Amino acid sequence: MSDVNIAGYGDNLTVNGICIGDLSPAEHEAIEKEKGGRNYRPLENVVVSHVQDSSTLVCRKPDPQDITAYIEEELVDGLCCYSAVNQGQLNQTIVDAVVHHLTKEKIPTVPRSIRHKYMSAFLLAATSITGMDRVVPKVAGVEAPELMFKLSRRWGYRIKGIPKNEAIIVAAKGNFHGRSMTAISMSDDPDAREDFGPYVPGIELVPFNDINALLDLFEKKGDRIAAYLVEPIQGEAGVIVPDDDYWKQVSALCKKYNVLLAMDEVQTGFARTGANFAHQLFGVKPDLMGCGKAAGGGILPVSFVAGRDDVIGLLTPGSEGSTFGGYPLASVVSTYAIKVMVDGSLSEKAHTRGTQLMTHFSNMKLEFPDKIKEVRGMGLLTAFEMHDNENLNGHNVSLKLLDRGVYAKETHHSTVRIAPALTINADQIDYIAEAIRDVVKNL
Ligand SMILES: Cc1ncc(COP(=O)(O)O)c(C=O)c1O
Repeated sequence: MSDVNIAGYGDNLTVNGICIGDLSPAEHEAIEKEKGGRNYRPLENVVVSHVQDSSTLVCRKPDPQDITAYIEEELVDGLCCYSAVNQGQLNQTIVDAVVHHLTKEKIPTVPRSIRHKYMSAFLLAATSITGMDRVVPKVAGVEAPELMFKLSRRWGYRIKGIPKNEAIIVAAKGNFHGRSMTAISMSDDPDAREDFGPYVPGIELVPFNDINALLDLFEKKGDRIAAYLVEPIQGEAGVIVPDDDYWKQVSALCKKYNVLLAMDEVQTGFARTGANFAHQLFGVKPDLMGCGKAAGGGILPVSFVAGRDDVIGLLTPGSEGSTFGGYPLASVVSTYAIKVMVDGSLSEKAHTRGTQLMTHFSNMKLEFPDKIKEVRGMGLLTAFEMHDNENLNGHNVSLKLLDRGVYAKETHHSTVRIAPALTINADQIDYIAEAIRDVVKNL
């Protein structure tokens, strides 16, 4: 049996005699590479230490005079943890709720087999903000599409009358719904799928934003299709915004063929795109909706599925559950994540700051047409795509932005997504845009 010795807090946190505050960026990288899963490719030579304000990270970089040591620098956060921190880092209202909960209320972690008083608050807030009949709390983002997948199949068999084990879930090409077996079975990204088969059966893919392809599939197999499970705007694919009328047409088709519209709003929800939930921008209402990321206010992993009574109502004890889904602290945090979104008018902020950023991007495209192929965005979910050219490399851009005090990350070889906290101020947007312009100019 081996032993482990752990002591201290913050920079003094020490494990087996190694104090984390003493480690250089290279030493952190070496430990991750040796002991971690190697399933990420973080930016080199930078380690986040703490936050300065709602959109500023304090990072450690190698000391140019002595690479065994580090210096600290501020970075404007252009990604906000892939939209998990829409409310801004350490949002004070949410932090106050957490501190109050843990120190004054003192409610322990309890399972769903005994009621706790905060679940009611969460359910009231979440059904109210989503305009849905029922809500089921979960933990990780991927659990939301996972549950929508299960619910759609059960609804397909029990209500639509699809023959047993023949239900089809339709997904869109280029989708991203997470990393579970179901999510990668829906994916067409070879990196996500390779050597993880056999995949979950009963999935058909259609091109995103192609109403005729969907119609064609519905005509051929509509009697066995339970749901179209899809992101309203594809985030990981590089912020792909569909045509204005796409969702209205999809919604009408789904009604005609009795197919559920299940929207994955894990990335687009919680005010990111300029509405509380992106589907509202397109004038449609899904039958099921999955949220995650900012549903936990940037503090805790919280996700949930909201939806129609006749679909979520099909769940029975034993058919679904999660130890930490909706436990007391998560219920409080998510209730406050909703409160901050509403009281802080975050959707309006996303719209205003998003318009400001997109104006910069459009100007950049005009200035460098040989480098910038397209700029896309909705609210503060934005991206610029460069032409397909070896020099115009998104990872390279991310590294160069780091030198100019901005944290951003490519989504694909030539696309960089910018999605800062919705609390970001106008000067910080200008700062990010100017840094990007400078980097692109010098590519
Ligand atoms: C649309 C969408 N669904 C699901 C997920 C998975 O969320 P998580 O990584 O929290 O499991 C993501 C993550 O980026 C996402 O963008």
